[in-house]
Amino acid sequence: MAISYYSAHAKLAWIFALLLILVTTTIQVHCQSPPGFISVDCGFTNTSAYNDSITGIQFDPDSGFVEGGLNNKISAEFMVGSDEQQKTLRSFPDGSRNCYTLPSTAGTKYLLRATFTYGNYDGLNKSRDGSLFLFGLHIGVNIWEAVNMTNWDPSLTIWKEVITVAPANSVSVCLINFSSGTPFVSALELRPLDDLMYPFVNSSVSISYFKRIRFGETTEFITRYKLDPYDRFWEAWLLTTYPWISLNTSDRVRRLPGDNTFQVPEGILQQASTLDTNFSFLEINVTVGPNLDAKNLELLPIFHFAEINSSNPSRRFDIYSDNELLFPDFSPSRFQVDSMHQNGRFLHNPAAIFRLNRTRRSRLPPLINAFEVYSLVRMDNLTTDSNDVNYMKEVKKHYNLARINWNGDPCSPREYSWEGLTCDYSKSNQNPRIVAVNLSTSGLKGGLVISFMNMVSLENLDLSHNNLTGAIPDYQIKSLKVLDLSYNQLDGPIPDSILQRSHAGLLDLRFA
Ligand SMILES: *[C@@H]1O[C@H](CO)[C@@H](O)[C@H](O)[C@H]1NC(C)=O
Ligand SMILES: *[C@@H]1O[C@H](CO)[C@@H](O)[C@H](O)[C@H]1NC(C)=O
Ligand SMILES: *[C@@H]1O[C@H](CO)[C@@H](O)[C@H](O)[C@H]1NC(C)=O
Ligand SMILES: *[C@@H]1O[C@H](CO)[C@@H](O)[C@H](O)[C@H]1NC(C)=O
Ligand SMILES: *[C@@H]1O[C@H](CO)[C@@H](O)[C@H](O)[C@H]1NC(C)=O
Ligand SMILES: *[C@@H]1O[C@H](CO)[C@@H](O)[C@H](O)[C@H]1NC(C)=O
Ligand SMILES: *[C@@H]1O[C@H](CO)[C@@H](O)[C@H](O)[C@H]1NC(C)=O
Ligand SMILES: *[C@@H]1O[C@H](CO)[C@@H](O)[C@H](O)[C@H]1NC(C)=O
Ligand SMILES: *[C@@H]1O[C@H](CO)[C@@H](O)[C@H](O)[C@H]1NC(C)=O
Ligand SMILES: *[C@@H]1O[C@H](CO)[C@@H](O)[C@H](O)[C@H]1NC(C)=O
Ligand SMILES: *[C@@H]1O[C@H](CO)[C@@H](O)[C@H](O)[C@H]1NC(C)=O
Ligand SMILES: *[C@@H]1O[C@H](CO)[C@@H](O)[C@H](O)[C@H]1NC(C)=O
Repeated sequence: MAISYYSAHAKLAWIFALLLILVTTTIQVHCQSPPGFISVDCGFTNTSAYNDSITGIQFDPDSGFVEGGLNNKISAEFMVGSDEQQKTLRSFPDGSRNCYTLPSTAGTKYLLRATFTYGNYDGLNKSRDGSLFLFGLHIGVNIWEAVNMTNWDPSLTIWKEVITVAPANSVSVCLINFSSGTPFVSALELRPLDDLMYPFVNSSVSISYFKRIRFGETTEFITRYKLDPYDRFWEAWLLTTYPWISLNTSDRVRRLPGDNTFQVPEGILQQASTLDTNFSFLEINVTVGPNLDAKNLELLPIFHFAEINSSNPSRRFDIYSDNELLFPDFSPSRFQVDSMHQNGRFLHNPAAIFRLNRTRRSRLPPLINAFEVYSLVRMDNLTTDSNDVNYMKEVKKHYNLARINWNGDPCSPREYSWEGLTCDYSKSNQNPRIVAVNLSTSGLKGGLVISFMNMVSLENLDLSHNNLTGAIPDYQIKSLKVLDLSYNQLDGPIPDSILQRSHAGLLDLRFA
């Protein structure tokens, strides 16, 4: 265990050394956290970042990633022994959807984790007052999961993870008010993955963490970075007393060359659990608690096996998901990992029970080193066209618009689209476009922002009843059919480009 920890560490340090040599001259490198890690401590009000004392990962305050919400601290009684990130949180009493926006690289695969510790921050005892305490999470514009803190010990942390492909140069996480308690979040962590990992995850399929377990005996309840360079959370398997038997080895446990699909840390594969020899099956039951209800989920299990018994035992077993035989007569390879999964096939297994049944030929009961199970997250809703998004963000910034619902994606999903926008969703396999912007009576001051002129799908722009000043720019938006500039203090003359279209009957110009 200790040996593998340090060897993984040393490898990482070596990779960093290389990276530093290559890039220090052009880019500023945050040397402590691995490249691409974005770690946000929500509700943390100090102006500067800090390094987490356990992982060394740098955490930033959340003010640059979110707009609304209130900063809160968990109650003093829960502070002692709490992780630094769990001490503060941001709550969102206003607005039906509130989003964090994290920078990403379009097309890159990420692990995104959100953590939640209620800690009775509001003194209302909400997780124990008998009422429903439930709110929703969206990954971008799609439903991810619900966070259920009903009858929940306030000192405990819930975490949710999703593996997803970033649709654009940012990825958003939104908290949805279900009118059953104020949504909040304690920390957000974005970790880039190798593109070859989790190959069944693509732009239309994401997977949400259901359980990720490492077997054998460990001292830590959660194993994460640095043993896992991708900072996945691996929970310890707590059953270690008789008839469970923990196995370990200090010998190398290798992957087949070119097998980069899961990259389970070697330190995890060097341990396993099995049972006393007279037992015939090993059951993995992962349903515990209100946040692990598999009833309506489609699950994708991944089993990681490596024979680490130094003799050459006969160990064969059938692998079941509930009562469905997934892999018959499997025998783990010696000191080499086999990751068994059905290549993106999701299963219905409402009990979330998986079983390894010893076959009759086998001398020994089954063994397992690590196990992951995810649920399907459909990414059917598309984000708004990225140019339209960028232009609307410019408009928002230029006029300093603090509208509570101008948050997250402008058009998607439909029921959360920004007030005052009309979007075109008619082309089902294309990103929604913005076709109308109504910013009438919105207190706009200053000049007409150029961004509107770049929105090639815009047909109707209403900027009436504001305090816009200055000249009207020489517009060239061929798509525009209605332009209402009335009740402002704009100066003439009206540019030819606009007048011509108006005279030709192509544009309804209102200007008074
Ligand atoms: C935040 O700032 C306070 C006051 O300056 C300081 O005592 C505290 O250690 C800081 N917290 C972290 C995590 O840096
Ligand atoms: C984090 O630790 C690194 C050294 O490992 C140090 O250079 C950096 O200044 C620290 N950052 C903060 C915010 O303390
Ligand atoms: C919170 O709820 C628990 C369980 O119902 C109760 O024991 C405790 O006294 C409550 N605390 C407050 C401050 O209401
Ligand atoms: C997609 O959007 C529709 C309409 O807004 C919504 O009903 C649906 O739940 C969304 N789908 C997902 C997967 O989030
Ligand atoms: C959010 O939920 C709270 C608590 O259930 C409710 O009082 C509030 O009206 C909701 N706000 C919105 C904007 O939905
Ligand atoms: C994503 O994967 C699913 C399942 O393998 C497949 O049906 C779908 O076509 C893929 N989508 C894209 C955009 O590649
Ligand atoms: C590893 O296994 C040996 C027996 O094979 C045992 O004595 C030792 O305590 C185990 N070490 C750990 C860290 O589990
Ligand atoms: C296995 O053997 C032990 C004694 O070594 C016994 O206590 C136990 O009941 C047996 N279990 C089964 C399933 O036969
Ligand atoms: C699975 O675990 C849950 C919670 O510990 C328990 O209620 C349930 O009975 C278990 N199911 C089986 C088949 O062991
Ligand atoms: C939330 O958790 C409570 C308590 O465990 C449970 O009764 C309720 O059904 C759960 N609700 C949902 C929607 O998961
Ligand atoms: C696995 O083995 C157990 C015990 O022998 C048996 O009860 C169970 O039916 C088997 N499971 C399947 C799916 O065959
Ligand atoms: C424009 O500004 C003036 C004062 O600066 C104010 O009296 C007037 O109401 C504003 N008009 C609109 C339409 O907001």
